[in-house]
Amino acid sequence: MKYFIEVWGCAMNEHDAETLGGLIEKKGFTKADSYSEAQLIVLHTCCIRAKAEDKVIGRIGALSKIKTKRPEMIIAVGGCMTQQEEVAKYIEKRFKKVDIIYGTHNLNEFDKMLTTVLEDKNQVKNISNADEMIIWENMPIKRNDELKAYVNIIYGCNNFCSYCIVPYVRGREKSREISFIVDEVKVLLSKGFKEITLLGQNVNSYGHDFKDGTNFSLLLKELDKLGDYRLRFMSSHPRDFDFELIDTINDTKNVCHQIHLPLQSGSDRIIKEMNRGYTKKHYLALTEYIYKVMPDATISTDIIVGFPGETESDFQDTLDVVENVGYDQAYMFMYSIREGTRAAKMDNQVPEDIKKERFHRLLKLQNKKSLERNKEMLGKTYELLVEGLGEKARLTGRTRGNKVINFTGDINLKGKLVKVKVTDYNTWSLYGELIGD
Ligand code: SAH
Ligand code: SF4
Ligand code: F3S
Repeated sequence: MKYFIEVWGCAMNEHDAETLGGLIEKKGFTKADSYSEAQLIVLHTCCIRAKAEDKVIGRIGALSKIKTKRPEMIIAVGGCMTQQEEVAKYIEKRFKKVDIIYGTHNLNEFDKMLTTVLEDKNQVKNISNADEMIIWENMPIKRNDELKAYVNIIYGCNNFCSYCIVPYVRGREKSREISFIVDEVKVLLSKGFKEITLLGQNVNSYGHDFKDGTNFSLLLKELDKLGDYRLRFMSSHPRDFDFELIDTINDTKNVCHQIHLPLQSGSDRIIKEMNRGYTKKHYLALTEYIYKVMPDATISTDIIVGFPGETESDFQDTLDVVENVGYDQAYMFMYSIREGTRAAKMDNQVPEDIKKERFHRLLKLQNKKSLERNKEMLGKTYELLVEGLGEKARLTGRTRGNKVINFTGDINLKGKLVKVKVTDYNTWSLYGELIGD
């Protein structure tokens, strides 16, 4: 029997889906390349914006139709979206063809739920309270990649940014024991993985719940001792990201000089309304210091336009930061109302057409900055980890700054570190030539 998992949302969700894959394979299933050849279809969902949820509902509808012709098919829906009680109830009632509904903390029970469905075809639903999380160690994980691996360091979120649903569906912060993280990274490196990305909604809170002085810097220092590899992390919170941490990163040999530092807004008034706890000045001081101590650093960000009450002048502050920092990459979103969050109740919602218009202006500016950042790389040589085939049958790899460069070379170079000189660029891509090992 074959299974297919479709994942929406963040890196954490992708990684959770790898755990689901591991559990499902233990039940004897193998991975299918598409929906059509799978008996078990899992929709691992996200609810960060309305659009994400609409897509899932559309998919469930389409699959339900297919299932009338293929009644043996098993449909599972779970993750952040179904962690919302009303949504889980809606799916349960509206889509009788869905067999399994699971919450964000019920991955460990997925194999049991599957057994139940295989034995007696009834709909099963397991959704624990978001705040009652147990960290399950040594779960089977079916990794999607053989060079790069995600490793969770902290689950949940305590920040309650006023627009965000994550704290409600993922529960309170819970750090993973340092020894488990170190052991997992050791095993991955021994298996030949070359790059590890540490995951958390706010990695800078790592260890605070232990109340014994453990923190993110300490973790980075411990992991740095484990060999020669590339170590990345996301996301950081500008309120908790400090100068000392920047120095720590610079002092390590393995931590890549790549910082994902979500801005959300450049306006102090809006940042406050968002409950983010920093100022434009503090944010710019951080990015300035990053470039000062690590001139080769790349910085990426997340930005929301059209948060309730955002005026043209607030938006100008956001554009100003984008102009000033010169992000290598920015993930930009139009504010989406999430029921149950504080911002959903604000009565000064920004009209859709204004959100769209601002979004396009921001996109245009960021594209210009991306092009400028890529242009700065022209003629310079970078160490690439070769990932495989990319655009137009060229090889593709990433720099330590996580920039993708396409170049011509032998596929046997996959997994190797090579030196490539940048020869051409555009807004979205970089091209280079191999200059030896
Ligand atoms: N924990 C991470 C990001 C989590 S969600 C962090 O704090 O950086 C990823 C991004 O989605 C956020 O950074 C934010 O830019 C965006 N986002 C979250 N809620 C949103 C909403 N209601 N509408 C639009 N974008 C949102
Ligand atoms: Fe959401 Fe803020 Fe937590 Fe990120 S830090 S997950 S944006 S509440
Ligand atoms: Fe989405 Fe859940 Fe991640 S809401 S962004 S999948 S934590």
